[in-house]
Amino acid sequence: MKKLMIAAVAGLVLASCGGEKVSESTEQTTPTAAQEATQPESTVEEPAAPTSQVTLTLEGNDQMRFDKTELKVAAGAEVTLTLTHVGSMGKEVMGHNFVLLKDGVSVESFASKAARAKDNDYIPEGDDVIAHTKLIGGGESDTITFVAPAPGTYEFICSFPGHYGLMKGTFVVE
Ligand code: CO
Repeated sequence: MKKLMIAAVAGLVLASCGGEKVSESTEQTTPTAAQEATQPESTVEEPAAPTSQVTLTLEGNDQMRFDKTELKVAAGAEVTLTLTHVGSMGKEVMGHNFVLLKDGVSVESFASKAARAKDNDYIPEGDDVIAHTKLIGGGESDTITFVAPAPGTYEFICSFPGHYGLMKGTFVVE
């Protein structure tokens, strides 16, 4: 009888020990579960990291103005830019485009070359441009996609003759 009692008590002790262990391991899985919860987030970020995406909008109007003088993006980002002409004048008299110039390109000399490139919607031959939209008139828009260049400050203009004086801004890559 005594042996049975001891065995029964030992069994209870083991059972309670086992119970504690189960509750301990449950507590231990709590931080693990939290860590696992953060993992999907970083997994989601990873594919976007090499080429992050940014959407920019820019407006030009009948007063020969862009609505922004600065655009800012991250280096290497895939930039989708939409230029909208919110005025009503035609592109022959109030044409607008977005022309992003390479670092070191003189706005004045580029603009004078552009003014002579009417047949190509005022985009001159050469290697001065990172990206540009087409020339648009009132009520039109154009969307382009390009990869942001190396960090730095670049200039963008409308290359329609006489517009770059007012229609210009800085394109900052960080
Ligand atoms: Co213009």
